[in-house]
Amino acid sequence: MCGIVGYTGSQEATPIIIEGLRRLEYRGYDSAGVCTLSGGTAATRRSQGKLINLERLIQEKPLSGSTGIGHTRWATHGRPSETNAHPHQAGPIIVVHNGIIENYLALKEQLRKKGHTFLSETDTEIISHLIEEHYLQSGNFEQAVRAGLQELRGAFAVCILCEKEPGTLIAAKQGSPMVVGLGEGEYFVASDIPAILSHTREMVFMEDGELVLFRDGAAVFSTVAGAPLVKKPRHIDWSPMMAEKGGFKHFMLKEIYEQPRAIRDTIAGRLREEEGTVYLEELRLTDKQLKAVERISIIACGTSWHAALVGKFLIEEHCRIPVEVDIASEFRYRNPVVNDRTLMLLISQSGETADTLAALREGKSRGAKNIAICNVVDSSIAREANGVIYTHAGPEIGVASTKAFVTQLTALYLLTVKLGRVRGTIDRLRGQEMLAALVRAPAFLEEALTLDEEVEQVARRYMNARDFLYLGRGINYPIALEGALKLKEISYIHAEGYPAGEMKHGPIALIDDQMPVVVLAPHTSSYEKTVSNMEEVIARGGGSLRSARWGMARSPTRRRLCWRSPSTTSGSRRSSCRCRFSSSPIISPS
Ligand code: F6R
Repeated sequence: MCGIVGYTGSQEATPIIIEGLRRLEYRGYDSAGVCTLSGGTAATRRSQGKLINLERLIQEKPLSGSTGIGHTRWATHGRPSETNAHPHQAGPIIVVHNGIIENYLALKEQLRKKGHTFLSETDTEIISHLIEEHYLQSGNFEQAVRAGLQELRGAFAVCILCEKEPGTLIAAKQGSPMVVGLGEGEYFVASDIPAILSHTREMVFMEDGELVLFRDGAAVFSTVAGAPLVKKPRHIDWSPMMAEKGGFKHFMLKEIYEQPRAIRDTIAGRLREEEGTVYLEELRLTDKQLKAVERISIIACGTSWHAALVGKFLIEEHCRIPVEVDIASEFRYRNPVVNDRTLMLLISQSGETADTLAALREGKSRGAKNIAICNVVDSSIAREANGVIYTHAGPEIGVASTKAFVTQLTALYLLTVKLGRVRGTIDRLRGQEMLAALVRAPAFLEEALTLDEEVEQVARRYMNARDFLYLGRGINYPIALEGALKLKEISYIHAEGYPAGEMKHGPIALIDDQMPVVVLAPHTSSYEKTVSNMEEVIARGGGSLRSARWGMARSPTRRRLCWRSPSTTSGSRRSSCRCRFSSSPIISPS
């Protein structure tokens, strides 16, 4: 995810900014840049790749000045490159930006007509041109920033400099985080607390629609429209490690809570609500080509494969195109029936999974058209595919996919609407309804995330279970698979996902009071059938843990339950285990 650091005070800005950017490195980035103001001129250094490249460049061509801004970029619009790296300058206006500008194409067009030329592929560059345009009219930096920002739609956190006003720095926020650090006669501004925590623990958290102007040793807060604000600083006593994780215990939890934001970013700028359709900027397939598709073949691994299975339901239901779903490592080693009337869809968060990449190459060699759904911009799969739909989940640092999965589902949903509209299986009204439902999804997720205490209680109750079964029907079957995969890889508890209706064909034999069963039962047409599957589970005492105390006596292997708890580490297994199956000494695995 992109990172922003800004400084204004009496010290040299560059070392402070570089140090701040380094503290944000853990979030992932593909390029970085710094701009400082000195004696009425701005100097910018940018480079692709690691921060060390930028530092080497600054060693060769030093920067000076006590006001400056810096950025680490995680590509969303435009590939990772020095030209696309921030800061972006237009005339005297220099900008770094986090977030996504939804109306950037329309603004770019307007600005082009006024004679602006753009050097990068980014949405950020339009911000600098837009503010420059206002600056040319008013000659007033602050007014130009306020006017420009009010024209932007989408999410942004920005830091802005003006070459003609060397001691002034403006920061503003709408939808992306921004924090101001108060020092002794100096100010820090950053997208995240860890970037500035070593300099100050007194921080002001900016809210959406707010702007701060640093000038003459003062920080003046107001709304973007200009209404004055009084902001209270907060003392942050987090350790640097806690700060990196945004106060969450670990990155996976942080990413789980990022899901609503990630979906919003994936939708941003793509909905054409009036027409009941979507705009997918890098699909690179004409409507005619999309109409000619006879079948779709979706290929992926792991969590992405589960998203693919959801995609099959969506596309077949709404677009009436036959869809096949393959695991990439299987696809590449068989003799798949794929031809020039097949549309291949490759799903990969990283865009680097070897089997998925090989499957893409295999399909291409057979003449199939192809689109990738990727999170990492300019990754191998994104580069090699004909078209791409980027999910804007931001970097995935936790090992298990969470926010990446929901954004893949979002991208598949967008593609479904697009295909259905082009092929006439979704009319305008239905398209509008589908988009309205999608827009509501992040709020539902936010609501679900408030259930954390209940979730924890359930987890505590079942933490010593050895096996789990997840059941779902229809579109919820892949979700059951994904639930089981998450449990396996995070808690080391064996888990299987099953289509609920398939249970009677074998797995029912496994159900007893030691087998918790998670049933996904939304109120759809198959609700009653799913409930009758639940009844079968309940009749067998599924997961009721009634005989927990003698569970081990029935099965000696249950002794191993205790070391499966995620909270136990190899050194503390004996002491921390709360085995509910036996009070006898715990046997550690060999
Ligand atoms: C599970 C998980 C993996 C990945 C799989 C594919 O939580 O993260 O199953 O989904 O390795 O990775 P990508 O999507 O990067 O191709």
